[in-house]
Amino acid sequence: MSRIVVVSNRVPVPQGNAGQAGGLAVALLGLMQRRGGLWFGWSGAVTEAGGPPGITHRGGVGYATIDLTEAEHRGYYTGYSNGVLWPMLHSLPHLMTFRRQDLDIYRKVNRRFADNLVPLLRRDDRIWVHDYHLLALPGALRQRGVLGATGFYLHVPFPAPDAAAVAPGIRSLVQDVLQADLLGFQTATDRDNFAATAVGFAGAVRTADGVVELGGRPIRLGVFPAEIAAPEFAATAAAQAAAEPSRLLARSLNGRPLLLGVDRLDPTKGLPERLEALRRVVARRAPRSLTMLQIAAPSREDVAAYRLLRQEIDAAAGAINSEFGEPDWTPLRLLARPQNRDTVAGFMRLARVGVVTPIRDGMNLVAKEYIAAQDPADPGVLVLSRFAGAAAQLASALLVNPHDAEGMAEAICAALDMSAEERRARWRECWAAIAGASPEGWGLEFLRALSPGDLDRLPA
Ligand code: ADP
Ligand code: F6P
Repeated sequence: MSRIVVVSNRVPVPQGNAGQAGGLAVALLGLMQRRGGLWFGWSGAVTEAGGPPGITHRGGVGYATIDLTEAEHRGYYTGYSNGVLWPMLHSLPHLMTFRRQDLDIYRKVNRRFADNLVPLLRRDDRIWVHDYHLLALPGALRQRGVLGATGFYLHVPFPAPDAAAVAPGIRSLVQDVLQADLLGFQTATDRDNFAATAVGFAGAVRTADGVVELGGRPIRLGVFPAEIAAPEFAATAAAQAAAEPSRLLARSLNGRPLLLGVDRLDPTKGLPERLEALRRVVARRAPRSLTMLQIAAPSREDVAAYRLLRQEIDAAAGAINSEFGEPDWTPLRLLARPQNRDTVAGFMRLARVGVVTPIRDGMNLVAKEYIAAQDPADPGVLVLSRFAGAAAQLASALLVNPHDAEGMAEAICAALDMSAEERRARWRECWAAIAGASPEGWGLEFLRALSPGDLDRLPA
C-alpha cells in the first residue's frame, strides 16, 4: 500500500498548543492525521547545525524536519520566497526585493530538502509537494532518481505570464516544477495562467485540455479548491459562542452589530484598504452604531513590507478612533496577535458582517470559515473580495473590489441593513457551496488524480 509523503516549508508538528495561522497547515493537518504518512519540511528553527532530519511520530504521522541556518532562512524564506515569489504570485510586483544570492540560496535549500528527503523515501510513496517555497523540489527529486508519482500543489494564485515574468529566475523554476506528474491549483484562472506561462516562456507545449508536455513528458494540470471541515467548524462556532471569550465580547458590544476581520498581517490581505472603507462607513453612520474587530496575526516580520504594513495599519486604526471615537466608544478594535482558532470561530458567529477583502488571495479559508460559523436562523453577511479564490465558489456573498473604498463601504452598509430574509437566502447558497466538501476530500481528490486506481488501497 503506498504511503502519502507531504513536503511543505511549514510543518505543523503537534505540540499541544495553538496551531500555526495559515491556510496550508489547516488544510492538510486533518488529512494527514486521518490517513497517516510522512510529513517533511522545515522545523521552524534557525540554527547553525544543518544536521539530518529529526523525526517525531504522532498518531500514524512521521514529522521529519530540518533546521535552516540563518543565511538559508534569510535567502530562501525571507528573501526569495517571501520577498520575490509571494509578491509576484499575488500580482504586487512593487513589493518585490530581489537579490541574486537569495535565488541561489532558494535553489540550494530546495536541493537540501531533496538530499534529506530521498533517504526516507520508499519506492511506491506518493509524494505531494506544497507551495511556492518548493518550486525547485520536483526537479531536484527527479535528478536524484526519484521516479514515483509526484504531485505539486500551489496554495496561492498564479498570475498571467507577463506578471509572472517579473520574478528573476522564474523560467527555470517553472521548468523544475514541471518535473512533477500533476500540478494542482486553487482556481481555473490560476491553472490557465500557469499553463500559458509554461508554454509562453518555459518551453512547454499544450497537448490537450489540462495537459502540457515538456521534453516529451506529459504533465497534468488540475483545479482543486482548498476546503474546510464546514460542519465541524459550525459545531465549534456554536459551542464557542457560549464560551467566556465570546460572552465577554458580546457583552462589550452593548447590542451593537460586530464587523469582523481575521487575517495574517500580510500586504495581500488589503488591510489599509479595508480600514479606509471602515472609515467611510463610520463617517456616514450614527456614532456608537457599530464595532469593528480586526484580528491581524503578525507574520514574516523579517520582510520589510510586513513591518511597514504594521506601522501603516496602527496609524490608520489610531486615526479612525481619534477622529470618530467617543469617551465611551471606539469604532475599531485592532489586535495584532493570533487568536485561538476555536475562539475565533465563536467571534465569527457573533459577527453581523465578515469582512474578507484581500487584494489577491489563492483561496482564503477565513471566508469559508465565516460562512460555516453562522447561525442558519440569523446569519451574518460575508463581504468578500472578488480577487480571493473563494469568490469563485461563494458568489452569493457581497462581492467587492478592494481598490474601491467607496464600493466596499457601500457593501458593508448594505450588509448592516440587509433584511433577515435576504441574509438567510445568501447564506444558504454559500453554505451549499462548502457544506459537502472537506480538507480530506480535497486531498484525496488530488491524490486520486495523482495516481488513479491506487486510492482504494489507501488506509481508511
Ligand atoms: P493564509 O493561508 O494566507 O494565511 P487563509 O485565510 O487561507 O490565509 O488561512 C488562514 C487560516 O489561519 C485560517 O484557518 C484562519 O482562521 C487562520 N488565521 C488567520 N489569521 C488568524 C489570526 N489572526 N488568528 C487566528 N487564526 C488566524
Ligand atoms: O497558504 C499560504 C501560506 O503561504 C502557506 O504556505 C504558509 O504556511 C502560510 O501561508 C503562512 O505563512 P508562513 O508559513 O510564511 O508563516
